Amino acid sequence: MSEKKILRALKGERQAVPPIWMMRQAGRYLPEYRATRAEAGDFLSLCYNSDLAAEVTLQPIRRYGFDAAILFADILLLPQALGPKLWFETGEGPRMETTTTPDQVAALRPDEAIHETLAPIYQTLRILKQELPSETTLIGFAGAPWTVATYMIAGRGKEEQAGAHRLKAEDRPTFEALIERLTTSTIEYLSAQVEAGAEVIKIFDSWAGSLKGQDFEDFAVRPTARIIAALRERHPGLPIIAFPREAGEGYIGFAHKTGADCVAVDNSVSPEWAAANVQKDGCVQGNLAPHHLVQGGEDLVTETRKVVQAFQGGPHIFNLGHGITPDASPDNVQRMIDAVRGA
Ligand code: CP3
Repeated sequence: MSEKKILRALKGERQAVPPIWMMRQAGRYLPEYRATRAEAGDFLSLCYNSDLAAEVTLQPIRRYGFDAAILFADILLLPQALGPKLWFETGEGPRMETTTTPDQVAALRPDEAIHETLAPIYQTLRILKQELPSETTLIGFAGAPWTVATYMIAGRGKEEQAGAHRLKAEDRPTFEALIERLTTSTIEYLSAQVEAGAEVIKIFDSWAGSLKGQDFEDFAVRPTARIIAALRERHPGLPIIAFPREAGEGYIGFAHKTGADCVAVDNSVSPEWAAANVQKDGCVQGNLAPHHLVQGGEDLVTETRKVVQAFQGGPHIFNLGHGITPDASPDNVQRMIDAVRGA
């Protein structure tokens, strides 16, 4: 069988050497990425320049031969296409025009209108489909509604998820209307990505861990389940990875509840725990702590092998628990890959 390793893992196949890719594999730790970003001008210009976005997506594939390439874009491009202004403060991160009132939610552009803004993203996928080696899987992605809503409501990330929790408590109808708009527009966005060539879809719910109890069910599980069901109706058999980051106990049963083929786990849970509690339901992706790629040394090799070992009994895609950081060393990435592939 010549089927791609990532697709085999997503179908539930255990492989002696797991397929491997890395969150943020196209990023600032690579000198060639920094050069192309400088050529584009800034991060958002890079995202919307299909030729250069395809180029940075391919850079880590050429350098390391990862088993998957992830579309170079950002989870905040979809809300930007809905209307609110988006920019990046150097050294700080994303900023958005806030969406917190019923009028602002009502004023978001209709789902059909997103494609005009997002056309260059689909074009990046078309280029990648042509350019990628035949063994490399092309992954498209979007943010989950809750995570995207936290940025839209607070106008920024990190601690400020408090803003989203506040709106949820103080104006539930407006909060729910925003989640609803993000759910339907995400379905349209991801469906267009599949039509443009994405073979696998990943849904990033980076702030899922701040949803507790019933909120986790209502705003992490349910929107993801709806997106997956709608995508599968349009694209039967489409493989989907869900990443409800820092979900803790919420990881248990997440694949069953949402229909995801694979659950990506962060490094706040041990690989042994994830193997026992999450991998029993199917493929798991993860979960080396990104700091090992900064520190390197014997720990990097030992911890990489531990992750491979822990997930050896079932379907596994090797990855980090979160994105690689800009201070990581490109040589350490090669050491990690060698440790996974047994070179
Ligand atoms: O993984 C990949 O290589 C694919 C591309 C990708 C990016 N962002 C590129 C990016 C993906 C899948 C994302 C997802 C994303 N974006 C998430 C979910 C995953 C996660 O990290 O939790 C979130 C929350 C965002 C929003 C975002 N974009 C933040 C908070 C930041 C600033 C933090 C940082 O690392 O600077 C970004 C910027 C961003 N997105 C960069 C890249 C390569 C760095 C921009 C630069 O080159 O300066």
